[in-house]
Amino acid sequence: MEHKEQVDLDESLTFFTDDLREQALSIVRKYPQPKAAVMPLLWLVQNRFGFIPKEAISDLAILTGTTPVHIEAIIKFYELFHDHPVGRYQLMLCTNISCLLNGAEKTLKKLKEVLGVEVGQTTDDGLFTLEEFECLAACDKAPVLLVNCRWLYERVTEDKVAHIVAELRERAKVHSDKDRDPVAGQG
Ligand code: FES
Repeated sequence: MEHKEQVDLDESLTFFTDDLREQALSIVRKYPQPKAAVMPLLWLVQNRFGFIPKEAISDLAILTGTTPVHIEAIIKFYELFHDHPVGRYQLMLCTNISCLLNGAEKTLKKLKEVLGVEVGQTTDDGLFTLEEFECLAACDKAPVLLVNCRWLYERVTEDKVAHIVAELRERAKVHSDKDRDPVAGQG
């Protein structure tokens, strides 16, 4: 890989540990251009840490032959990437018009009550981060709740909230941190 040969990774990468670097390089090698590996590398880092630490940005730029500014711009553009720690389960409730008309406001109130957090906050146990989201293109099933961009809960009226949260708490006991990964393909 031409790009890899241009840099002395041992000296250049200051944040990536050996195993992370190996995984990153195996991803980079799959693409004709290192730059094309930006998104999977961001997922790799986020899956490891739960977010993308500031310290990882320079290494990501080196690995992809881009710049820290480019990496930061991508992280900012995609709401699914986090530059700060979030819970293992990111609960994204749609609060656009169809969902609002079908009770999203009450659902949100209940979510806040059950989780004990406000929108944008993470529960003390680190399990849940509550967020409002724009239309999730499932208006006919409103109100909808998307969890980790993997599971779409439909017609989430306020009476279903406690059960969903309890179900995820149970899941957290038996499933690994890979639950964070929207492309992991776990059930
Ligand atoms: S308005 Fe909620 S899914 Fe479209």
